[in-house]
Amino acid sequence: MKQPVHIAVTGAAGQISYSLLFRLAAGALLGPEQPIILHLLEIKPAMPALQGVVMELQDCASPVLHGIEITDDPKVAFKDADYAFLVGARPRTADMERKDLLQVNAAIFSVQGKALNEVASRNVKVLVIGNPANTNALIALSNAPDLKPENFSCMTRLDHNRALSQVAEKCGVLVTGVKNVIIWGNHSGTQYPDIHHAKVKDQDVLALVGHDWFENTFIPTVQQRGATVIKARGQSSAASAANAAVDQMKAWALGTEQGKWVSMGIYSDGSYGIEPGLMYSYPVTVTDGKISIVQGLHINDFSHQKMLLTETELKEERDAIRALLA
Ligand code: NAI
Repeated sequence: MKQPVHIAVTGAAGQISYSLLFRLAAGALLGPEQPIILHLLEIKPAMPALQGVVMELQDCASPVLHGIEITDDPKVAFKDADYAFLVGARPRTADMERKDLLQVNAAIFSVQGKALNEVASRNVKVLVIGNPANTNALIALSNAPDLKPENFSCMTRLDHNRALSQVAEKCGVLVTGVKNVIIWGNHSGTQYPDIHHAKVKDQDVLALVGHDWFENTFIPTVQQRGATVIKARGQSSAASAANAAVDQMKAWALGTEQGKWVSMGIYSDGSYGIEPGLMYSYPVTVTDGKISIVQGLHINDFSHQKMLLTETELKEERDAIRALLA
């Protein structure tokens, strides 16, 4: 039997985790042959609720789940972690401005970055989901000097999946028939969902759907999808976010399909003229756990402007929390 891998999940009593943990316990990340041990991190007030989640995990009688540890100490949660899903974050409340949200989360993610640095596996894959995800990931990695920036990514897979679905519906095909949409930039309203390189059964998507639908329907629909779900459901996307978290980590761990790419927020190396060192979402492929940005795509003026706009927002976010970047 394989040795268990250690998977840390923060915000383990929250909504996203309530879907994510049960997917993990069902073997959705690495398959039914790979045992896992879950390390669940919460803040003290949420511990009673977390106990309930643990009981339900136990009641699944999962053959994959070989152990559960719960704690409010990041150094316990991240000990020897091979995979870390950083879901927990402080939501924005009515009295908070965006910069307050950045600050309060920056404090959480600097502590967690330091703990990962001290105790996680040197090959840990850290996926930041809690918002503002890109900037939280930047803070975590800059507080983990003994890990590499390549140990960190932030989640834009939900946006990517939303884009795939919108195109599939418009073109009347199954989502498996659509490939190579891109989410550029920030996981926020400024993200740029791009279909210039997307294909439906080897036909150019843009030629099929037209620029007007792309610019005036597709882009705002994908950008605003999170807000639209909140309006309808009264709560933010949770099951689809958990699904995307599994998708993104699985692609990172096991690789991407031949000829297809996915979107991931990663540490910019300056590709496509984006400032190096920002956590920026790019089209990527993964082989043997190594993420590579898809190179050589033609970027027209329309795309370039939109890529700059979301880059500018990321620079502003970074500047607002610069003091916490170690
Ligand atoms: P939630 O509020 O239901 O759960 C968050 C949990 O995190 C709570 O149980 C809270 O106690 C915990 N928490 C807070 N501070 C913590 C800390 N320092 N350490 C450990 N746990 C802590 O929120 P939900 O719906 O599960 O969403 C979590 C985050 O994911 C939010 O920031 C949300 O905006 C973000 N999100 C990101 C998406 C993406 O695509 N990147 C998509 C959807 C949500």
